[in-house]
Amino acid sequence: MRNLKTLHISDIMADVLRSKAILVGSPTLNNGIFPPVGAFLTYLKGLRPKNRIGFAFGSYGWGGQAVKEMETIMNDLGWDMPVEGVKIQYIPDEEELDKVKEAGKKLGEVIKKE
Ligand SMILES: Cc1cc2nc3c(=O)[nH]c(=O)nc-3n(C[C@H](O)[C@H](O)[C@H](O)COP(=O)(O)O)c2cc1C
Repeated sequence: MRNLKTLHISDIMADVLRSKAILVGSPTLNNGIFPPVGAFLTYLKGLRPKNRIGFAFGSYGWGGQAVKEMETIMNDLGWDMPVEGVKIQYIPDEEELDKVKEAGKKLGEVIKKE
């Protein structure tokens, strides 16, 4: 797990370039992606890493556009997105946490097969 608040974007990018699957999380802020995550994805778009598995997840309050926007970027990069993104309103309950775990398991299975 890499935290955009505590790590420099280029350090995270070095790990991204070594990774098969990239899971990106962002809350929705002002109808879009949280700015530090947006900056990360802008940087990533410039590098255009190919042949990756992508997954987007995030919390939201009302509209929840961030997950869709992150998926659009991953799609533009030509990434495979075998598991549908997960967006959760405010704080996840037990059922939603199970949904997130399930998504993680499915992704793990896909990655193992690669
Ligand atoms: C300044 C601000 C703007 C927000 N804008 C949106 C928004 O446009 N759409 C939306 O669905 N949620 C919006 N939210 C709600 C956040 O997505 C939500 O608070 C967050 O996902 C949950 O994390 P928290 O518990 O730390 O607040 C906004 C929240 C803040 C504080």
